[in-house]
Amino acid sequence: MKLSQLAETMPAPAPLAIGNAIRERINKGEQIYNLTIGDFSPLLFPIPQLLEDAIIEAYQNKQTNYPAPEGNADLREQLSAFIRHFQNLYYTPAEILVASGGRPLIFAAYQTIVDRGDKVIYPVPSWNNHYYVQLSGAQGCAIETSADNNFMPTAEDIRPHLKDAVLLALCSPQNPTGACYTQEQMKAISDMIVKENSRRGDDEKKIYVLYDHIYNLLVQNSAKHTDPVSVCPAMKAYTIFTDAVSKNFAATGVRVGWGYGPQEIIGKMKTVLSHVGAWAPMAEQKALAVFFNDLSGVEEYLYNFKRKIARRLEDIYTGLMALKQEGLPVEVIAPQASIYLTVKVDIPGDIFNELLDEGIAVIPFSAFGARKADQWFRLSVGTCRLEDIAPILQKFRKLLMRKVEMVH
Ligand SMILES: Cc1ncc(COP(=O)(O)O)c(C=O)c1O
Repeated sequence: MKLSQLAETMPAPAPLAIGNAIRERINKGEQIYNLTIGDFSPLLFPIPQLLEDAIIEAYQNKQTNYPAPEGNADLREQLSAFIRHFQNLYYTPAEILVASGGRPLIFAAYQTIVDRGDKVIYPVPSWNNHYYVQLSGAQGCAIETSADNNFMPTAEDIRPHLKDAVLLALCSPQNPTGACYTQEQMKAISDMIVKENSRRGDDEKKIYVLYDHIYNLLVQNSAKHTDPVSVCPAMKAYTIFTDAVSKNFAATGVRVGWGYGPQEIIGKMKTVLSHVGAWAPMAEQKALAVFFNDLSGVEEYLYNFKRKIARRLEDIYTGLMALKQEGLPVEVIAPQASIYLTVKVDIPGDIFNELLDEGIAVIPFSAFGARKADQWFRLSVGTCRLEDIAPILQKFRKLLMRKVEMVH
């Protein structure tokens, strides 16, 4: 049967496909430490208790009708305060759109800005941009990043591609690396975008930044979260933010996200999504408005949640660094944010299947569109128990020792 060109050519998202294949093997009884998924074990990382209680209560109160297509007014009021509290930015409820997670908002932003054949710039490795490019029929301009620039494209990396581009898709903290932009890097990019837009004539499309900061509250250590509008207020006219409860509150299955940006663009995104029907469920919206009404409770949840993530990231990082100091061929970047570690096993060959044979599942950067980041991979701690860490490190050591002995 011949279906649409899109259906015939659109692959399933690679990180999901890998994660599902591993889960199937585990269900069949294989012993695998599944460090692939960008999700949380609800037993280790439950959602906030107040949010859970408020969701149940909302259903008991029969909050089961269609929500408003732009998101319920009470939730958008709370989101406005939430954005002010955590980002020190002022967005009115009319500049905020609620949807069922980060994905539909990213989809709607692409559909709103990009025409078929338009140029979209994005870094690789990055989460799913190559699929959104394909969905929108855009001409993708992938910038390969490397450990040298912390896997974050700088203004200098982007500048040569800027002409004619209509969208620059950025994400910080980045998935798969957990790396964050510095304020200086963000400022250089933002100034460049403002300058490029003032160079363009009235009959030309502008370039917008889609700023996906879904891990923005999971920043650790000395790293600080930043964004285009905070470092360059003129970017308010050209920035579309996307965020969600999915990662910051371990609530991937709750399905509430929000986008914010210029009112006209947010209004068009709302229309696009109205045809998809990707609204966040009524009861979850009601509950989130209750949860966000208690910002000190939100802070308290984040404090404990981040500490638990940091412990895992730090312990695996320290363990892998010790292996490196033993002279074993492994690289690891110090964790900055999110639930991910960036690791490289510096041995030629199919390292991912060899790790899997050892009982460790990770996701290669090639699954995030990278073509040159050969042996780098993402290691997620979202389902990692503290007692798993020692055996995981032992397995790494065993594989690395065996490989080094084979070389000698
Ligand atoms: C960077 C990034 N953006 C967006 C999403 C999608 O989030 P949601 O589950 O809210 O659709 C993910 C999920 O993995 C992600 O990692």
